[in-house]
Amino acid sequence: MSIENIKEKIRDVKDFPQKGIIFRDLTTVFKDKDCLHALSEELTKLYKEKGITKVVGIESRGFIMGPIIANNLGAGFVTLRKPGKLPAETWSESYEKEYGTDTIEIHKDALNSEDIIVLHDDLLATGGTMLAAYKLVKRFNPKKVYVNFIVELEFLKGRDVFPPEVEIEALIKY
Ligand code: PRP
Ligand code: HPA
Repeated sequence: MSIENIKEKIRDVKDFPQKGIIFRDLTTVFKDKDCLHALSEELTKLYKEKGITKVVGIESRGFIMGPIIANNLGAGFVTLRKPGKLPAETWSESYEKEYGTDTIEIHKDALNSEDIIVLHDDLLATGGTMLAAYKLVKRFNPKKVYVNFIVELEFLKGRDVFPPEVEIEALIKY
């Protein structure tokens, strides 16, 4: 199954969560066993020879493919969570959303300076969420951080909020 075949399985939901938005719904990809397998293979292929030690997934939709990619690569999986969910000591990073601010957190012992990291989320829109995640993992001074999405909404120019040296991969673009 090709990346184009996976893209065809994404469901477009008009006017969700508000009027004028076309929501790219990946649940129709995840529920199809052949699509899920192909997606797993395609995402893993991007990082096969890079010595990845940790995949870091963003709550909540980064928790679907993140652990699958980590397992395929023989890496560990780390969760970046919404505030107040992680039990031990955390670092936090706040970022602007359309209305007000949001915060994500990571355990202070989740990563170290020897790690080679893939930061994973389902979708890149404005980039606010992933940029906050990127800043959080950079605090650990890791050897390398790759940024990965299944879908990129190119017209929102989320890629442009990252420093130019950051290697960003998205399988499917709109
Ligand atoms: C969605 C999506 C990304 C983020 C992208 O998550 O899964 O994490 O928004 O938007 P941005 O690039 O403009 O920051 P959402 O905040 O809806 O949370 P959820 O995964 O818990 O549904
Ligand atoms: N699909 C899924 N998540 C999103 C979208 C979308 O189109 N836009 C912002 N977050």
